[in-house]
Amino acid sequence: MLNRAISCVNIHLHMTIAIYYFSGTGNTLCVAKDIAAQTGGTLIPVASLMNRDFIEIDAEVIGIIFPVYYNELPLIIKRFTGKLDNLEHKYIFAVCTFGGSAGNSLKSLRQLIGARRGILSATYRVHMPQNSFRKFFENHAMLYSTWNKQVGQVVWNTNNRKQGEFFKHVLLRPFFVLVDYSLNNMQAMYRKSFAKLSNTSPDLKMDDLIQLNDMSFSVFENCNGCGTCAKVCPVNNIVITEKKPVWQHHCENCLACYAWCPVKAIGGGIAAKNYYYRHPEIKVTEMMKQKIDPASAQTN
Ligand SMILES: Cc1cc2nc3c(=O)[nH]c(=O)nc-3n(C[C@H](O)[C@H](O)[C@H](O)COP(=O)(O)O)c2cc1C
Ligand code: SF4
Ligand code: SF4
Repeated sequence: MLNRAISCVNIHLHMTIAIYYFSGTGNTLCVAKDIAAQTGGTLIPVASLMNRDFIEIDAEVIGIIFPVYYNELPLIIKRFTGKLDNLEHKYIFAVCTFGGSAGNSLKSLRQLIGARRGILSATYRVHMPQNSFRKFFENHAMLYSTWNKQVGQVVWNTNNRKQGEFFKHVLLRPFFVLVDYSLNNMQAMYRKSFAKLSNTSPDLKMDDLIQLNDMSFSVFENCNGCGTCAKVCPVNNIVITEKKPVWQHHCENCLACYAWCPVKAIGGGIAAKNYYYRHPEIKVTEMMKQKIDPASAQTN
């Protein structure tokens, strides 16, 4: 109880719309910024709250905006949702950004929010450029422009408290059912390949293996010790030692360190060779704002 009193953050927001986001290479931040700007909501980085045991939200409307990883929610979004309090009677919506398919992510989020006594009223699937490998024939300009046309509907739905699953491609539905089915069955394959990257056992839980994937990162000779990778890592998973990044094995796999290094000095197994994707409208300084403040780290 005392624990809870110490580490619970009660977010008294004067506005009624709180937009929580997590982003590695800027797609999700761009989407979150557009929604916040057009709804008058306040942007809050999920990573900045993760030192708390409980997160109590006063806002009447809650948006949760995140990228799809491995057909699922990013680990940080699972942990974040598990800390949410005071969700009854709120209008909650979620937007996932993805490069191929939303997979199970929104379904998992719905369950987690339900477990916190909330209801996920509206969900949106936003197709953005794939950030972890080069997809040939992917037209980035077209994906950005489609989102620019879609944002108005998210805003209107939010203002009018609409319920439903939006931006589902009805015609492609049978194809995605097949994709999702095979991806669900890829968990064993993922585990095997992650275990290889970190030289550990595939019997470890998927969530544990994901965090160890940073063992596959390496630093090239051209690293100049600037520290951008450490500053941009949303979960403080990088320490600069002797002017080189050292990963701490609680990685989210967001690729921020890899993608935002100004001299492309990071390589590694979970990152595609020579494909350094970043959303063109997002600045590195904006990405740095979402990180956990080490000074506020919980001590209990
Ligand atoms: C580790 C990792 C796993 C991913 N897994 C998937 C996936 O299963 N399905 C998918 O459609 N996109 C996947 N993506 C692509 C991202 O979801 C997509 O590019 C997203 O828009 C990136 O958002 P961000 O720029 O805010 O980080 C993955 C990306 C990463 C880095
Ligand atoms: S951002 Fe790149 S150059 Fe800077 S310390 Fe990290 S790896 Fe080295
Ligand atoms: S170490 Fe790199 S990939 Fe892992 S969470 Fe930090 S920025 Fe993301």
